[in-house]
Amino acid sequence: MLEILTGTYSCWAPPDGFAEIELDLGCGKGGFLLELAENYPDKLIIGADIMLGRLRKVKKKVDRRNLKNVRLLRVSAWPLIAYHLSDHSLHRIHILCPDPWPKARHRSKRLLTSEFLGRLAGKLTANGILHISTDDSEYFDFIEAAISPLACYSRDPSGIDDVKTIKTDFENDFEGKGIPVRHTVFRVLK
Ligand SMILES: C[S@@+](CC[C@H](N)C(=O)[O-])C[C@H]1O[C@@H](n2cnc3c(N)ncnc32)[C@H](O)[C@@H]1O
Repeated sequence: MLEILTGTYSCWAPPDGFAEIELDLGCGKGGFLLELAENYPDKLIIGADIMLGRLRKVKKKVDRRNLKNVRLLRVSAWPLIAYHLSDHSLHRIHILCPDPWPKARHRSKRLLTSEFLGRLAGKLTANGILHISTDDSEYFDFIEAAISPLACYSRDPSGIDDVKTIKTDFENDFEGKGIPVRHTVFRVLK
């Protein structure tokens, strides 16, 4: 994977020296990760998304705020998890308002299947947290059904106590229209 936003075209590896690593997968316009990074300068915050245009805008905001603890990766979720992140390296993964693919003929495009959620567990540290949200109640039920057979996860809403008040850009938009966004949180048992 190439870290193209830096202009250096180097291969990517997480830098040393951070106490913990959090991933905002599908970070979009970056509202959530920017606030997270400001709150936790000692943590490395990785933002990953497939849309380069969005990432370029997030990069400008990161530079304006002079945040030294953010890394932005243009990469799709499956290859990121399959090839680029070390096992047991992430303390928390946020997947917030992922594309819900509500039409029946598009359901196979949904990211949060049992297989993917199982792979995510392997990337989390012992007691690591998986934080998911969606405005789509059908997708919410689909995610809950996908995670329920996975014995490695245990529900733990306290895993996001410190970030409960941080809203993503999509969450702000939905709530502005009166559409609630539901969160679900799991801890990896090790
Ligand atoms: C509905 S937006 C939500 C953005 C942000 N999390 C928020 O809540 O404001 C979904 C984001 O996921 C990204 N995305 C979709 N599929 C992806 C994939 N396979 N890998 C990485 N990012 C993906 C999209 O480009 C988009 O920015």
